[in-house]
Amino acid sequence: MAEGTLLYVSNCVFCHGVPGVDKGGNLPNLGYRPAAEIGNLETYVFNGPLVSRGMPDFTGKLTSDDVRKIRAFILGTADAVRPKQ
Ligand code: HEC
Repeated sequence: MAEGTLLYVSNCVFCHGVPGVDKGGNLPNLGYRPAAEIGNLETYVFNGPLVSRGMPDFTGKLTSDDVRKIRAFILGTADAVRPKQ
C-alpha cells in the first residue's frame, strides 16, 4: 500500500488528484471511477484508449507490478470515501 501511494503520487497525482482528498481538476479523480475500470487499470495505463485524449502511455515506465500497487492504493482510498451501499 505505501509503495502504491508513492507510485501514484510520483506518476498520476498531477493530473488525477488525490483520491478521497479532492475530486481532481478537469480530470476524473480515480477514487470516484467505477471499481471495474480500476480493476482493469493496465488497460488504461499501457497504451490505453485515452492516449489521444491526453492520458500518457506508461509502457516501459511502469511495470505490471507497479500498476497492481497503484490499483491497490486507488481502491483502498476509494473504499474509504465511496458511499457505502
Ligand atoms: C499528463 C496527465 C496525466 C497523468 C500523469 C496521468 N493521467 Fe490518467 N488520464 C489523463 C487524461 C487526460 C485522461 C482522459 C480523461 C478523459 O478523457 O476522460 C486520463 C484517463 C485515465 C483513466 C480513465 C478514466 C476515465 O475517465 O475513464 C485512468 C484509469 C487513468 N487515467 C489512470 C491513470 C494512472 C493510474 C496514472 C498514473 C500511473 C495516470 N492516469 C496518469 C491524464 C493523465
